[in-house]
Amino acid sequence: MTAETVWTIKRLLDWTVEYFAKNDSIQPRLDAEILLAEALGCQRIELYTRFDEEVAAEPRGKFRDWVKRRAEGVPVAYLVGHREFFSLEFDVNEHVLIPRPETEHLVTTVLDLIAEHFAEQPVRIVDVGTGSGCIAISIAKHCDKAAVDAVDISDKALELARTNADKHGVSERVRFVLSDLLQEVERPESVNIVVSNPPYVGTKEANDLPIDVRDHEPHVALFANDQDGVVLSENLMRQMVELQCGQFLVLESSPMIIERLAEFAQANGFADVTIRKDFGGLQRWIVARRQS
Ligand SMILES: C[S@@+](CC[C@H](N)C(=O)[O-])C[C@H]1O[C@@H](n2cnc3c(N)ncnc32)[C@H](O)[C@@H]1O
Repeated sequence: MTAETVWTIKRLLDWTVEYFAKNDSIQPRLDAEILLAEALGCQRIELYTRFDEEVAAEPRGKFRDWVKRRAEGVPVAYLVGHREFFSLEFDVNEHVLIPRPETEHLVTTVLDLIAEHFAEQPVRIVDVGTGSGCIAISIAKHCDKAAVDAVDISDKALELARTNADKHGVSERVRFVLSDLLQEVERPESVNIVVSNPPYVGTKEANDLPIDVRDHEPHVALFANDQDGVVLSENLMRQMVELQCGQFLVLESSPMIIERLAEFAQANGFADVTIRKDFGGLQRWIVARRQS
């Protein structure tokens, strides 16, 4: 960028898209637009109506810094500090996983279970590994009678999840619990549904993860600390049976291990175990009824 260049919105975008593309970015245009809109404090769509506007020095400086960090692999959501999930905006930071679109299926499944089985009564949900709180808060936001325990082993994640609950006005119905899986959940036998997107990347897959993910998202949110990535999911199911916690389980996992987890569920106290597919046709989450 030379001193004489007039940096209009269009020019900045074109330059950045080309720069990101050279850095093997998967979605150069989208990344560039999100960052520039955030730097300008406007909606992405507005960029197109303001193409010829010159960008002032301050937002341009902020944008330039973000572009550099994005090219180094920092995810866009961490740079701008938020991500949309289930049509709600969640604050995110380096202590939490960035919510993924496929996880929205868990929210829909829980809301369907509530409508089908708990329509006439209050319902208690536990979200294990809440991270940003995206699942717990989306459920509470869409179901007035749901009380949700949002559990995490990371106090930093819980801190952010609390902020998100305040932001969406559901703090009174979401309780935050620092716990290893269900260990510290009070009155586990009164829980109706356990929902979880636990860490499920096996240590043997660590090198296959995209660098953005492996080097920037918290390892406590990614890795289950066993070779195959099943240990936390299996422990969660064992605890549900031991503590008589939850009539239903809704569990996200990797398409690579989901059949193994479904068989584990079937053999260890669950019935009506079904594997569901995401929009991409991948086997992505399990719904099961606890039997014993
Ligand atoms: C894959 S992230 C999911 C975050 C969020 N629920 C989502 O879907 O975006 C997994 C979360 O589980 C938490 N976690 C890891 N081990 C845990 C454990 N033993 N007990 C409770 N939470 C745990 C991590 O801190 C992380 O926030």
